[in-house]
Amino acid sequence: MARTLLSLSNMEPKEVAALVDRAVELARTPRTPQVLAGRAIGIYFATSSTRTRTAFWRAATALGADVISYGPEDLQLVTGESLADTARVLAAYLDAIVVRTNGEIREMAELADAADLPVVNALSSHEHPTQALADLTMLRAEFGTVAGRHVLYVGEGNSTAMSLAHAVALSPGLRLTLITPEGYGIPDGLPAWLREHGAQDRVQHGHDLDAVIGPVDAIYTSRWNQMGVPKADPQWRSHFLPYQVTDALFARIGGERSIFLHDLPAVRGDETTAEVIDGPRSRVFRQAFYKYAAAMAILEWCVCR
Ligand code: CP
Repeated sequence: MARTLLSLSNMEPKEVAALVDRAVELARTPRTPQVLAGRAIGIYFATSSTRTRTAFWRAATALGADVISYGPEDLQLVTGESLADTARVLAAYLDAIVVRTNGEIREMAELADAADLPVVNALSSHEHPTQALADLTMLRAEFGTVAGRHVLYVGEGNSTAMSLAHAVALSPGLRLTLITPEGYGIPDGLPAWLREHGAQDRVQHGHDLDAVIGPVDAIYTSRWNQMGVPKADPQWRSHFLPYQVTDALFARIGGERSIFLHDLPAVRGDETTAEVIDGPRSRVFRQAFYKYAAAMAILEWCVCR
């Protein structure tokens, strides 16, 4: 069976740790190993991307692979060809495919199940696993070890938050507090999954930012309209404003060395202020760089079995 990366939720802690270790190693390696020489990686993005698409393209070529990129209108999927037939055909040409859609993971699973083709979820409606692996890589690079660290995520319980929760739960000793506006929390299945994995004490969710007790090692936020998708409630902004990450929040619960993280793209004045994202605590562009390192580790893991 092909190795797929559709969700972190079905991975083992040791697999996640190995991927992050490898990403840190590859980020520091001056000569990238040509482990994908002679291979071809497909990159199919049905929605926009600046970081993830570029990171995977660059990672594939750095490892020696050729890349074939498909935009939203390029595959015959848009004219009605089935996912299963698409997978069977592409498996004959490609060694892995990196996919971004607005759809559910089950569509990517259908693609993965139909053929022996590794599929990487580069963002789906509820999960963003490659982002979370980049985030863990960032934390490892910043702090050396993640055990004992505490990350505060403030904002919508979107796909970035969901995969971050999985990633933290699978990283022994790391803690995550998710603080989301009422009505914009994490998907229903997460608490049960956390209990099954014995991580309910390390990953906690609430709505009251004032109840968080510091110091925290990192404050993480995400764009309020992920992928630019507008919200149904015309008053949504009034629910989100108390959750803006500001210097005052860092002053209250940040430690001396605490850092600011953001998956980007950012809207200054919404989820955070210019003072924070452009200030000395911000690691957001370093974090974006680690998408590239994580992408190399992920492609190697998928293809070189
Ligand atoms: N964070 C993230 O996934 O960025 P892109 O949408 O630019 O890929």
